[in-house]
Order: sequence, then structure tokens, then C-alpha cells
Amino acid sequence: MRLLLTALTVFAFVPCLAYGQWHPEKPAQYHELPPLREQARLFNEWKDERIARIPALLKKYDIDAWLLSMREHNEDPLWWSLKNATQFAPHRRTVLLFHTNTSSLAGHPNPLVWVDNTGAVWDELRWILVQYAPQRIALNTDRHIAFGGGLAVGEWMELYEQLPQEWMKAVNQPMLAVEYIAARVPGQLSYYRKMQETVWAMIQEAFSARVIEPNITTTVDVEWWFREKIQTQNFSTWVHPRVSVITPQSFPGWAGTEDIIQEGDLLHVDFGVTAMSMNTDTQHMAYVLRTSEGESDAPEGHKEGIKKANRMQDIVLSQMQAGKTGNAVLQASLRQMKAENISGQIYCHPIGDYAHAPGAVMGFTNLPEYVPVLGELPILPNTWYSIELYAYHLVPERNETLRFRLEETVHWVDDQVGWKFVHGRQEALHLIDWQVPSSDGDFFVQS
Ligand SMILES: *[C@@H]1O[C@H](CO)[C@@H](O)[C@H](O)[C@H]1NC(C)=O
Ligand SMILES: *[C@@H]1O[C@H](CO)[C@@H](O)[C@H](O)[C@H]1NC(C)=O
Ligand SMILES: *[C@@H]1O[C@H](CO)[C@@H](O)[C@H](O)[C@H]1NC(C)=O
Ligand SMILES: *[C@@H]1O[C@H](CO)[C@@H](O)[C@H](O)[C@H]1NC(C)=O
Ligand SMILES: *[C@@H]1O[C@H](CO)[C@@H](O)[C@H](O)[C@H]1NC(C)=O
Ligand SMILES: *[C@@H]1O[C@H](CO)[C@@H](O)[C@H](O)[C@H]1NC(C)=O
Repeated sequence: MRLLLTALTVFAFVPCLAYGQWHPEKPAQYHELPPLREQARLFNEWKDERIARIPALLKKYDIDAWLLSMREHNEDPLWWSLKNATQFAPHRRTVLLFHTNTSSLAGHPNPLVWVDNTGAVWDELRWILVQYAPQRIALNTDRHIAFGGGLAVGEWMELYEQLPQEWMKAVNQPMLAVEYIAARVPGQLSYYRKMQETVWAMIQEAFSARVIEPNITTTVDVEWWFREKIQTQNFSTWVHPRVSVITPQSFPGWAGTEDIIQEGDLLHVDFGVTAMSMNTDTQHMAYVLRTSEGESDAPEGHKEGIKKANRMQDIVLSQMQAGKTGNAVLQASLRQMKAENISGQIYCHPIGDYAHAPGAVMGFTNLPEYVPVLGELPILPNTWYSIELYAYHLVPERNETLRFRLEETVHWVDDQVGWKFVHGRQEALHLIDWQVPSSDGDFFVQS
């Protein structure tokens, strides 16, 4: 019961009103994934919806056809966002041709797909290209953007030999891959929201007396607790969880620390899960109450640090209009922080099919003010973003300047609303009170 009260204290924190979005009022709940067969059905539905957008995407960039060629286990990264739920690798040589020509060869699928290990594909492809007569063919040959550079050199050499020169006057347009992979379909959000709430439920449980006993539990123990929990939840992951005790020195470097957790520690977690071809990436902070000294709340200085990081989230979101470049958003946000006397760092990225998904980034930890290439891309609507940053805050109780590191995911709503947090954002520290025994059922409701 005490745990429930502690939790309510955490969640009763006064919300920031800037976006009308705050720390969710109820403790997060665990959600189960649908059965695998149902997941596959959904996956294919979303994939069909996405593929159906490709002809319009080609037209937007004035491209007539988009040619992908790959061999088993050396696939173009785009393949993972095109494949069927029951496919696990592109077999043999797989060639896909997306096109915009609907006037001829009616009934032909889009894309045309060949799976071949005899060379027969080339005769057919030459014939098809003559029929479709595309003027501008895109190949994934970009040098800078990974998702637009998936044509292997061996495949490029083969195409060069197999196709007449007129078809090899190819166009490099990495935005095809960037937009295709980053754009979301509406059906995904409700499942993503449940994943995100489950991530919060995991963090609440990890940062509680159920998992952490001061002077005994180490940060590494908590990392492996997360790994096991991810597995029992039937998720997988794209990153090893990193749990750290925050000190002025505990950054940069993404490794967790190997500390024994003690009363008075400020803790941090950075972790993500993968399910149904979607990824999460979240950072929260917790305070280990000095229960042995009767402490029942975190010191003010710690709470102010979180508020400062929340203010930075507001600043970034107020600048993040679709169409602006990542660098423009980054620099405007840094100017606003300066005006408000906030120092810290911003390093936001798109998220979705990949945790570090294609599209405009706003800063990197090593490139705090300007990012070549990826920072010059436009922010795309209809995508998801991880708002990842830290605020420096001088904590008077410790006489130390600490980094308050938060990461929370937003989804695009529309031109009027812009972005909204998928589940919410952390506005109050998770409090770890080791005297509170917790029992199943009262707090962590399975649903
Ligand atoms: C995980 O999958 C197993 C096997 O399908 C199932 O029995 C279990 O209930 C699932 N657990 C959760 C938390 O979804
Ligand atoms: C996925 O399956 C459908 C129907 O079985 C097929 O038409 C399509 O070519 C497949 N997609 C890929 C990328 O192989
Ligand atoms: C579509 O293909 C037909 C041949 O099948 C060709 O005559 C026509 O020019 C093509 N249209 C475009 C827009 O490329
Ligand atoms: C942790 O250990 C220190 C000494 O190593 C001791 O002073 C302190 O009381 C212990 N704290 C708890 C909560 O057991
Ligand atoms: C700005 O913040 C620093 C500490 O971060 C403080 O020392 C300074 O007084 C502040 N300046 C203003 C103008 O608020
Ligand atoms: C706080 O730390 C600074 C050095 O970082 C030191 O100069 C100062 O005396 C300290 N203040 C207190 C009250 O301990």
C-alpha cells in the first residue's frame, strides 16, 4: 500500500501547461502483445498501406522508377520496411522495381519482384524497362545517408553490365528511402502507445524497492533485470539498457556505471524495446530516498533539474515545425535556451522502424551545434521523434552541476497540433523507497 502512496506522490507533480501534456496521472500498466499471427496480419496491413504510397512518393521527387537489387544476407536496409511478415531474408538475388506507369501492362504489381539465381531476371528486367520507358530511374547509391545507400557495389557492377547504358543514367534520391521508412501509418500508433506505456511500467518497477536494495543492488544488476523483463514481456531490443549513477563525470560515454546503488543516488536509465517492427527509446531518472534518515521526497535541487530539462523539451517542440531543417530547429532552440539562461545539450532523432530512424537529426552528442547532411534534412510530418537532451543544473544540496538527461517520444498529430508525447513525459523523479515492500497486484496491473 505504501508503494501506491509513493507512486501517487510522484504522479501528483504539478504539470507544465505549455503543451497540456504532463506526467500521466495513473501509474503505467503493462500491456501484452497480440498473438504472433495477429501481429503478422497487422504488419502486412501496415506494409501494404506504406507500399501503396510509393508511386506518389516517386512523383513527388520526379522519379519514374526505383530499382532495388540485393542478395540474400546482403540486403538493402529498405528491404526490412518492404518485406512480408513471414519473410526473414531476401532470397537468392531479389530485384524490386517500383514504377509510376499505370498506363501499360495493366495488372502488373507494383513493385515487380524477381527472386532469381539463374540470371533470367536480367532479360525480363530489360524487357520491362523497354515497356515502361522510365526517364529517371532511382538507385540507392547515396554516399552519406545509410538508408539511401543500400545498393551493394557488387550489385551495382552487375546492373552496370546487364542493363543498357540508357537505364544506368540513374538518379540518386535518398529522400525516397528516408520518407518511405520514416512515414507512419495511422494503425501503428495505438500499438506503439501500449509499447511505450509498457516501457514506463518497466521503469517504474525497476526504479522501485522490488528491484533496488541500496548497498546491495548494482547498476549492472538493474540493466540485466531490464533484459530479462524485456524477454518475459515478449519484446526484443535494439540496445543493451544502460543504467548509471549520475555524477558530474558520468557523461559522455553511453556505458552504464558499475556502482553499488546507495541512498541519495540520482539514477538514470536509457533503454528501448522492439516489437512489431517498432522501436522505443526512453530515458528517465530516479532518486534513491535516504529512507534510513526519514527522507520522503527528493531534494528540491533535483526536482528543479528535471523541470529545467522539461523546459528544454518545450523549447525544442515549439521550434520543431515540419519543413524546417534539423539544424534550424537546433540553433533556434539553443538561442532560446541562452535567452532563458539554460545550458545543456540537444540530440534528438527520428524513431520508428529503427530506433535511430532515417530523417533530420537535431544535434549529436559530439556535434552540439550543427550536423552536416543529417542535420540539413527537413523535419518530416507524419513521423515519430525521440526528444533527447540534457539540462545542466547546479544542485545546491550537492554543490554539484549535474546533467538531467531525459528522452521521450513524440508523434505527429497535424499542422495545428504538431507533436504530442506518445505516452507522456517524465516531470517528476521516480522515488525509490527501500522500506516499502511491494506486492503484486496493487501497483503493476497486468492488462
Ligand atoms: C509471452 O508469450 C508467451 C508464449 O506465447 C505467453 O504464454 C505469455 O503470456 C506472453 N507474456 C506476455 C507478458 O505477453
Ligand atoms: C509479399 O507477399 C505478396 C503476396 O504474397 C507478394 O505479392 C509480394 O511480392 C511480397 N513482397 C515482397 C517484398 O516479396
Ligand atoms: C508507360 O509505358 C508505355 C509503354 O508500355 C509508354 O508508351 C509510355 O510512354 C509510358 N508512360 C510514361 C509516363 O512513362
Ligand atoms: C550502506 O552502507 C553504509 C556503510 O557502508 C552504511 O553507513 C549505511 O547505513 C548503509 N545503508 C543502508 C540503507 O543499509
Ligand atoms: C544563469 O545561471 C547560472 C547558473 O547556471 C547562474 O549562476 C546565473 O546567475 C544565471 N544568470 C541569470 C542572469 O539568471
Ligand atoms: C562548491 O564547490 C565549489 C567548487 O566546485 C567550491 O569552490 C565552493 O566552495 C563549494 N561551496 C560550498 C558551499 O561548499
